[in-house]
Amino acid sequence: MKFNIAKLPGDGIGPEVVAQAVKVVEAVCKRFGHEVSWQAGLVGACAIDQCGDAYPAATHKICLAADAVLFGAVGDPKYDNNPTAPVRPEQGLLAMRKQLGLFANLRPVETFKTLIGKSPLKAELVDGADFLCVRELTGGMYFGEKGRKDNGDTAYDTCIYSRFEVERILRLAFGYARNRRKHLTVVDKANVLESSRLWRQIAREMEPQFPDVTVDYMFVDNAAMQLIRNPKFFDVLVTENTFGDILTDEASVISGSMGLLASASVGEHTSLFEPIHGSYPQAAGKNIANPLAAILSAAMMFEYAFGLMEEGRAIRTAVAASIDQGVVTEDLADGGKAFSTSEVGDWIANHI
Ligand code: IPM
Ligand code: MN
Repeated sequence: MKFNIAKLPGDGIGPEVVAQAVKVVEAVCKRFGHEVSWQAGLVGACAIDQCGDAYPAATHKICLAADAVLFGAVGDPKYDNNPTAPVRPEQGLLAMRKQLGLFANLRPVETFKTLIGKSPLKAELVDGADFLCVRELTGGMYFGEKGRKDNGDTAYDTCIYSRFEVERILRLAFGYARNRRKHLTVVDKANVLESSRLWRQIAREMEPQFPDVTVDYMFVDNAAMQLIRNPKFFDVLVTENTFGDILTDEASVISGSMGLLASASVGEHTSLFEPIHGSYPQAAGKNIANPLAAILSAAMMFEYAFGLMEEGRAIRTAVAASIDQGVVTEDLADGGKAFSTSEVGDWIANHI
């Protein structure tokens, strides 16, 4: 096959980790006889610096024309403590999600046997945990009406969801559950929030369409507890945008390092693949960041965007081998030898 991939490294450690994912994609293409071309685009703080827009139209054009988008991270500390900044790097990511119609963010949580000891949770709790978080990505508080009133002394963000938005994300989640262990947990705050009551109502209405799937409903505060108390309870977890943002960061500790969690965002146009860890500015340019989440995002790209499971598996096997053989960055090195970002990328590409 021939792929045209948009490459959006973004800010912070984004460029370093995406560079490793690119090496790995090229190695896979070489091994399996595919052809790949890359189109680079700007997003985030680097885009603001160069053209005053966090998601320039030129970047959107590249994404729309691509078969998949490989994305790094956005964010820069110079904006974090400046609440009056007129444009923020994160707006680039949000604009990209909205304009590409990426309404579903898929964040799988898996464990690697050799890393069980890295998790702050007890080994017997995390060993074998394997679930998929499905986070709604283009609705809720992130995109609802927001503003200030009373001379700026009162602020609000509205959590708003339509039936259409809820139904399409639930349908996707039911579908993933059907292809996994057939257990769906709908996470909401239906004891307090009207938007959650709509989610729950729609999920109940849909249950008969998926008779093979066992559905349970969990309040988000309880879900936050169950995720670390009994992560093996979960198979597919579906929730709205803000809850999903928070719960997936929490879930990332289960696998031992945030540097391991990959994600796919899918929807109406080109799908996007990104590590969940963000721009980690303290490590930027040091060649120490863990590239595995970006590399595993490339595996998800082969599987979800191109339907090439064997190619995805080749990446996963190489990643597992690098972990087993201790070719890891300092976050996973456990006092042993720490390899650099590019050394890990080279090793994995070479293994493939
Ligand atoms: C994520 C990030 C983003 C989000 C930020 C950078 C806007 O935390 O992808 O989880 O909140 O969605
Ligand atoms: Mn987040």
